[in-house]
Amino acid sequence: MTTIHELGAEQLRTRIAAELERTRARTAGLTEAVDDADLMRQHSPIMSPLVWDLAHVGNQEELWLVRDVGGREPVRRDIDDLYDAFKQPRRDRPALPLLPPAEARAYLATVRDKVHDLLDRVPFTDRPLVADGFAFGMIVQHEQQHDETMLATHQLRVGPPALYAPDPPQPRARVADEVLVPAGEFTMGTFTDPWALDNERPAHPVDLPAYVIDAAPVTNGRYREFIADGGYDDPRWWSEAGWAHRTEAGLTAPMHWRRDGDGWAYQRFGRWSPVRDDEPVVHVCWYEAQAYAAWAGKRLPTEAEWEKAARWDPATGRSRRYPWGDGEPTAEHANLGQRHLWPAPVGAYPAGASPLGVHQLIGDVWEWTSSPFRGYPGFAAFPYREYSEVFFGDDHRVLRGGSFGTDRAACRGTFRNWDYPIRRQIFSGFRCARDARPDESGR
Ligand SMILES: [Fe+2]
Repeated sequence: MTTIHELGAEQLRTRIAAELERTRARTAGLTEAVDDADLMRQHSPIMSPLVWDLAHVGNQEELWLVRDVGGREPVRRDIDDLYDAFKQPRRDRPALPLLPPAEARAYLATVRDKVHDLLDRVPFTDRPLVADGFAFGMIVQHEQQHDETMLATHQLRVGPPALYAPDPPQPRARVADEVLVPAGEFTMGTFTDPWALDNERPAHPVDLPAYVIDAAPVTNGRYREFIADGGYDDPRWWSEAGWAHRTEAGLTAPMHWRRDGDGWAYQRFGRWSPVRDDEPVVHVCWYEAQAYAAWAGKRLPTEAEWEKAARWDPATGRSRRYPWGDGEPTAEHANLGQRHLWPAPVGAYPAGASPLGVHQLIGDVWEWTSSPFRGYPGFAAFPYREYSEVFFGDDHRVLRGGSFGTDRAACRGTFRNWDYPIRRQIFSGFRCARDARPDESGR
């Protein structure tokens, strides 16, 4: 597939229109799967009613594309405050005078008509907001991110199943336990990815000592050993903050798990099934990931270690867009885009492995890293501070790689997600790393 930057203006318009429509079809699927009462209901105090996400997506599209890029008159200035994520905490959103579903859908359609009209005429000048169609790409990614949030809301929803998808592929390759990543410099972040967001920029060199990283995300089978060994009851494995949270929240297993005879079952989008040992564990918080890693005699990888394992090509020394190369993800490479409703077993995506043989870095589960969310050296907020800069600091930990619920438009080797260390309603798992021993690193 040609990269965005190589497209002529007409081809770029066609690509953007296709991405907008593909994304809207996903939004429609997620919001038409349940009835109006369900759309208006709050399924968890940490999530919005689905109908809030729906109109918020349209409002952001109006603000950035219709008003800012297009310089057109507002469609509904009166609702801006209702759908401002900074002004309205999630717990308060169900009490707001939200647009009912039919009105929200009509609003989205009106905004989208104006965006298509704008897209037909907008000159893709050097103005940063429109160069390579950036603002359109940002809006596509924003809607896809809310689609993943809505998918997480569906997972929290009580009631009969509403979403369906085929099972992920079966294992097709044996995967090693660990992979050695040799010492040396690599390029982290990007200058060149046209739709990369501000926090992925700029590209900069990072020198790392040799380390060893798990060749696949930690599986349910391994995680069950941690539980069976009393991992949740032993403060030795937990940080002080982690133990306090584990105690207060009463954590005993990943979210959505329950005992099932001698084993475990999990609930996935309204259906219970036995826990499958070779699937990556999902719905664990950062504290649980950290405790597991300590129990296993390892640690979480830093963000730089994750990215080097995912992007560094030892043959050329350059960083790729994805573990397999620069080409866009396909169904052969990774479990992305809600094609399936849960992670694929380890070994299901040999074509998506990195040159060093690290598997399933992209898709399946977001992977917690040990790193707090910070700006790279030379960071510049764009197009607004609230996109990422206001979240920098020690409160959030970075997650990498995307999940089965992440769209390919919102996932690449440089993409950074972040959340609080207690969060586990997201599709979060992890892999472990450790320092290389002298006999391994060849030094
Ligand atoms: Fe948003």
